[in-house]
Amino acid sequence: MASRAPRGGRIRNSALFQAVLTPRERFRKSELYGSAIRHPRPDTPRGRAMTSFHNFFLHVYPVKVPRKVLSWRSTLRLGFIATVLYLVLFVSGLYLMFFYHPAVPQAYFDMHNLSTGVAFGQFVRNIHRWSAHLMVAVVILHLLRVFYAGAYKAPRQFNWLIGVALLLATLGLSFTGYLLPWDQLAFWAITVGTNIAGYVPILGDHARQILLGGPDVGGNALLRFYVLHIYLLPALMVLLICVHIWRVRKDGFAVADRDEEVAADATAEPETEEVPVDA
Ligand code: HEM
Repeated sequence: MASRAPRGGRIRNSALFQAVLTPRERFRKSELYGSAIRHPRPDTPRGRAMTSFHNFFLHVYPVKVPRKVLSWRSTLRLGFIATVLYLVLFVSGLYLMFFYHPAVPQAYFDMHNLSTGVAFGQFVRNIHRWSAHLMVAVVILHLLRVFYAGAYKAPRQFNWLIGVALLLATLGLSFTGYLLPWDQLAFWAITVGTNIAGYVPILGDHARQILLGGPDVGGNALLRFYVLHIYLLPALMVLLICVHIWRVRKDGFAVADRDEEVAADATAEPETEEVPVDA
């Protein structure tokens, strides 16, 4: 019976073939590497487009990004910095949750214990607090940057509204987090804040009642602020950030009006039909 020619896989796995490859080349030819990295080398336009389609992190960017827009000066990376700060807050908050009970007066003693008796407790608390302050500042600067670039105009109006929701969620997280230490500063700040909410015409009293779960700042308010702070607002934020970044990917980046040409180019539909994608 005529012998059949060895198949590609068998050649690749043969001892002779493996022996002439460097360890790096061997790793690049391995099944593990091939199953994770599916695009050709990005040294041709097709390779670059395929890399953009197949790499999760690059996929977040619009397919076509003019070189000018990638300069840090056009976005100041403020949206990216806000996303990183959110992740830092998420992870540090998770650590703090292990040592905290949202109950009166236990919450105060837990925070005291965190600062004095828990490994890295004070350090993580400070990271959480400073990241929160920074995030408010960075989100406001990001808003100013996108406003300066005219990114509230078509076709980005929807993303501008998502951004406004993100700003409100960021401020909401700062406000609800303020009550959690249950110290004098927290108690009186939330008393003043919710009293201000009470002055809103018609809805004010209801809003205050819903926020506090009663007439005064007490155990019910602490529990409500806790649920808002560790569950509802962070979940809403994750959803909004995903939609926000997806919209940036679809609409392209806007840059300041001084460079109209680049702005127009960035919003052009990507020429995907030319690139065969083996899904
Ligand atoms: C948690 C808050 C926020 C996060 C994590 C975030 C994230 C991002 C990211 C990663 C980008 C890509 C470009 C860049 O880095 O600048 C972006 C763009 C954008 N953001 Fe935000 N953002 C936030 C808040 C806001 C706010 C408050 C607004 C405005 C009300 C806004 C409006 C926009 C718009 C319109 C774009 C598109 C800009 C362009 O096309 O150049 N974002 N955002």
